[in-house]
Amino acid sequence: MMDFTSRQVPQTEIARQLDCIEQIRMRNLLQPQAPKFFCQTFGCQQNEADTERIAGMLCEMGYTRTEDAQQANVIVVNTCAVREHAEKRVFGIMGRYTHMKDTRSDLTICMCGCMVQQEHIKEKIKKSYPRVDIVFGTHMLWRFPELLLQRINGSKRIFDISGDPKGEIAEGLPVQRDEGCHAWLSIMYGCNNFCTYCIVPYVRGRERSRKPEDIEAELRCLVEQGYRDITLLGQNVNSYGKDLGIGMDFSDLLARLDAVEGEYRLRFMTSHPKDASEKLFATMANGKHISHQLHLPFQSGSNDILKRMNRGYTKEAYLALIQKAKEYMPDLVLSSDIIVGFPGETEADFQQTLDVVRQGQYDVLYTFLYSKRSGTPAATMPDAATHEEKQDRFNRLLKVQEAINQQRQDAYQDRELCVLIDGMSNSKDGVYTHCGRTDGGLLVLVRGDDLQIGDFVDVTIEKTSLRALYGRALRKGYHG
Ligand code: 5AD
Ligand code: SF4
Repeated sequence: MMDFTSRQVPQTEIARQLDCIEQIRMRNLLQPQAPKFFCQTFGCQQNEADTERIAGMLCEMGYTRTEDAQQANVIVVNTCAVREHAEKRVFGIMGRYTHMKDTRSDLTICMCGCMVQQEHIKEKIKKSYPRVDIVFGTHMLWRFPELLLQRINGSKRIFDISGDPKGEIAEGLPVQRDEGCHAWLSIMYGCNNFCTYCIVPYVRGRERSRKPEDIEAELRCLVEQGYRDITLLGQNVNSYGKDLGIGMDFSDLLARLDAVEGEYRLRFMTSHPKDASEKLFATMANGKHISHQLHLPFQSGSNDILKRMNRGYTKEAYLALIQKAKEYMPDLVLSSDIIVGFPGETEADFQQTLDVVRQGQYDVLYTFLYSKRSGTPAATMPDAATHEEKQDRFNRLLKVQEAINQQRQDAYQDRELCVLIDGMSNSKDGVYTHCGRTDGGLLVLVRGDDLQIGDFVDVTIEKTSLRALYGRALRKGYHG
């Protein structure tokens, strides 16, 4: 039986952080005007969820949020390391933000997230960005109040990217979620898979699951607060529970959460094909609140490349898996990630990827050009293909998917779908005033009378485009 307390940040530590929050709050109360913070997030949903926790702490400290970095007293940049492009962009904007210190002695600049968790990046910031005040890695997020207080009290620049050997989880710190119907709900952190191209296991550490009762309590809270579209988050949600040793897997967790009463939808991401099971599909199909949406990245259709990526499945096994998922849920909305140009990928390998795309009939594809990440095994693999060849494959892949997308979107013409209205649209014609998401997560622009954000409405689809469906509201009502 797992000793949970050894996996959680001790309550005394959390209390210490809450005390630091209070000290900063008292100080901010003395200011003639509430000071402001600005957050910028790069990367995945996990990073967005982390930013919500940082924003929650800053709000409790008495800062108000601004969308204008120029107005801010504290700037936090939450970074991503998955591809080189995002890293370059971060350094670009850090130049701009640190420049603002020319005229702003009261500005504190913080960097956090996956990118800064890497030693060579930390050194670069130390040397080349002397005006960055606080750098903290993904494991130290919960210590942000303490780090900020130290710096405000005049400590030297702070660099805390220490790893977290125990893989501790912090519960009980505030969260400031974005306004609207949608909420992220982290169920686990880290990844054990070590796909050979991926930096994530090195920067986010080993898999660690939150306790089911903590997740359920947070879900109940979210539903009570009126969130209607809740996404469970983890780098590989299908490994949920393996580290807990309580005989509970992800399907069991889903079923437990699904039993929470209320008008809401439950989604999850990301799933790894080697761990997705028939039990999961059955749970999804039988659930009341669980959306029929599955993000199941296959990365490459070539068995040779999959092996060298260390993905743990074959093309055939993957295709059988999605076939099974569609048998359980004929209305399934399926999406995937693909990497083009992995080291050693040949034209024949790429053709296998196109074959999976054609057979899979995805609603959404996220396609990436391979990006070399130093420290990963793939970074030292021989790679003969030129950038032009890879770009050409990438363009051809987009073309194939675009045709499939259009066909799939067109198939929704005249169908009736339940849409959760989650915002105002910026449709140019002014007819489709609202926007929302179907159960499967597809974007719909909606017209109708008396539409409110948070409404579930049955919509008949009147026209389609590659980007969105367009429909007329028929009636309100939640169907589960
Ligand atoms: N290069 C390109 N794409 C990558 N991804 C992860 N690492 C890399 C990399 N080094 C993609 C994978 C993953 C998604 C989140 O990012 O497709 O599923
Ligand atoms: Fe990276 Fe693979 Fe883990 Fe996803 S499953 S985060 S691609 S190592």
